Amino acid sequence: MEGDVRDRETLKRAIEDVDFIINLAALVGAPICEQKEKEAWEINYEAVMLLDELRQPGQKYIYPNSTSGYGTRSAVEGLCLEETPQEPISVYGQSKVKAEQELLQKPDVVTYRFTTVFGLSPRVRLDLMPNDFMWRALRQGSLIIFEGSFQRSFLHITDVARCVEFTIEHFDEMKGRCYNVGHESMNKTKKELADKIAELTGCYLHFTELREDPDKRNYSISFKRIQDVGFFPAIGWDEGLNELYNGLKTMHWSNPCANVEYY
Ligand SMILES: NC(=O)c1ccc[n+]([C@@H]2O[C@H](COP(=O)([O-])OP(=O)(O)OC[C@H]3O[C@@H](n4cnc5c(N)ncnc54)[C@H](O)[C@@H]3O)[C@@H](O)[C@H]2O)c1
Repeated sequence: MEGDVRDRETLKRAIEDVDFIINLAALVGAPICEQKEKEAWEINYEAVMLLDELRQPGQKYIYPNSTSGYGTRSAVEGLCLEETPQEPISVYGQSKVKAEQELLQKPDVVTYRFTTVFGLSPRVRLDLMPNDFMWRALRQGSLIIFEGSFQRSFLHITDVARCVEFTIEHFDEMKGRCYNVGHESMNKTKKELADKIAELTGCYLHFTELREDPDKRNYSISFKRIQDVGFFPAIGWDEGLNELYNGLKTMHWSNPCANVEYY
C-alpha cells in the first residue's frame, strides 16, 4: 500500500496483523533535512513514535538509526561502541537519535546504527558516498575529495537486508538494545575509498579542503555487540566496490534508473 507515515489511519491499516514493523521511511541525510526541517522532524521522529503508539502488544519494532551521531568522537576516544555518547549536529542526526532513544525505552524494540550503506538497488541512491564517488568517477573521470583523512565506515546493502532477516530470527536475544551494524574491515578513510575507486575506474583524484561534512563524521566503529549475537556482513570491501563499479558503468549516463526494471 502507498501512504504517508504521518497519517494515523494509514499507519493503523499498514500494521494490521503484522508481526514485525521495519520502519525504513525517512527523509534521509543532512542536506534534505536542513532544507525541510519541519518535515524531517515530522517523518523522522513524530511518525516513528506514532507507529510505536499504534502498535499492539507483541508487535515487534525494528528501527534504523545511523552512525552520524558519533560525529568526531572516535578521533579522540578510539572505537565507537554503542555506549559512546551520540552528539548529532544535523537535523537528520538529531531527529534519528531522539527517535532511537525514546524507542529504546519501549518493549520489543531493536535499533541499528547502520554505517554508510552502498551498492545497487532498483532505485539506487547516488547520494551515498561510495555510490556518489563511483558515479562521478565513471561519469566525470575525476573526483574532488575534502576531509580525505576522515574515517568513515561502510556496509553493503545486501548486508542491511541480511541483518534485518537475522534480527527477525534472533529477536528475543537482541531486543531492548541498539547495534552498530558493519565490520571493522570496512572502517576506511575517505582517501582509501577514493583510491580504490581510482584503481577501478582510472579516474583522477584531487584533494582539497573546500567543504566540510555537516555531521563532522570522523569515526572508527566497533561491531563487537552484533558479532557477539552472531551477525557478520557477507560482502567485503573489494567485492562490494567491484559490483558497484560493474553495475554503475552499465547504467544510462543521464538517468541512472533508465535501464532498471520496476516490479
Ligand atoms: N543509507 C544509509 O547509509 C543509512 C544509514 C543509516 C540509516 N539509514 C536509515 O535507513 C532508512 C532507509 O534509508 P534509505 O537509505 O533506504 O533511504 P531512501 O531515501 O532510499 O528511503 C527512504 C524512504 O522513505 C520514504 N518516505 C519519505 N517520507 C515518507 C513519508 N512521509 N511517508 C512514507 N514514506 C516516506 C521515501 O519515499 C523513501 O522510499 C532510513 O531510516 C535511514 O535513516 C540509512
